[in-house]
Amino acid sequence: MHFSEFGLTNTKKLLIHAMHHGYAVPAFNFYNMESLLAILHAAETTHSPVILAISESALQYMGSDILMGMIANIKHKKNQIALHLDHGHSFDSCKKAINLGFSSVMFDGSNLPLNQNIKISKQVADYAHKFNVSTETELGILAGIEDEQTFSDSHLYTNPDIVADFVKQTETDSLAVAIGTTHGIYKRKNENEKLRFDILKQIATNIPKTPLVLHGASTIPQKFINKINKFGGNINYAHGINPAQLRHAISLHVAKINIDSDSRLAFTANIREMFSKHPDIINPRIYLQSAMENMTQNCVNEIKNIMGSNNKI
Ligand code: G3H
Ligand code: 13P
Ligand code: ZN
Repeated sequence: MHFSEFGLTNTKKLLIHAMHHGYAVPAFNFYNMESLLAILHAAETTHSPVILAISESALQYMGSDILMGMIANIKHKKNQIALHLDHGHSFDSCKKAINLGFSSVMFDGSNLPLNQNIKISKQVADYAHKFNVSTETELGILAGIEDEQTFSDSHLYTNPDIVADFVKQTETDSLAVAIGTTHGIYKRKNENEKLRFDILKQIATNIPKTPLVLHGASTIPQKFINKINKFGGNINYAHGINPAQLRHAISLHVAKINIDSDSRLAFTANIREMFSKHPDIINPRIYLQSAMENMTQNCVNEIKNIMGSNNKI
């Protein structure tokens, strides 16, 4: 099926509007009905566009029939909602998502030799563009756990000198850049460590028409870490990206910001609290509801205070 049959919107359109109007569209990862609903409630409350992001492993976990069934039955304004494959690792994986009805796909060839990255990114764009599906590609490597399949332990910042040629050759609609963000909850020693804005500025200058994407952008709210630890968890030294730095990145053409870890923390914190305070509860609807509401609240907060995408419908 085509994404328009699901009432989903063209991702590139969302990103271009965001880039021209100084805000970012959040790409929130989800993996089940509750996390999907949490994002949709946040979008509805804030009248804002959102990108529903699914990793290959989350897609496998939910199964495409269940996933697309839920997407088909989303009731509110789908014209501001995009469905995006996060970290697609092959042409086949991107093609499968496009055929299912995704409105955008990321081909992540950042670990490949440059010529291979270019070749497959272009192959994906050629297929995607036939269906008006948008593409995202990546140059440079983020440290940390990128998904269940990939781990990279070093940063390789995006080289601004090659971005123009890369965008031209791959015909990508957006570009994920490595400027010091990291996947997962262990990103920095403290949240004041600076991102490489010098690199970001040069990239934005060299490809002024291309919306940029920041992965690994979670802020790791310490209130969630504290709550998790208070109720039996054990997480130490987890620090995220400073929200003020994310806002600065938005002023330098970052139009899509990926958040997964913050939602996981919000979700987990409330489940831990429920289990600890109410050891008699065995009805999953009760604790999942609480987890979902905390995730919604966090998404609303990030939409308003980081993305600046509220009321942008
Ligand atoms: O950046 C990737 C996401 O955090 C996805 O992680 O493969 O565990 O769903 P996952
Ligand atoms: P975080 O781990 O910082 O939430 O990053 C998520 C991400 O980049 C998904 O693609
Ligand atoms: Zn990512």
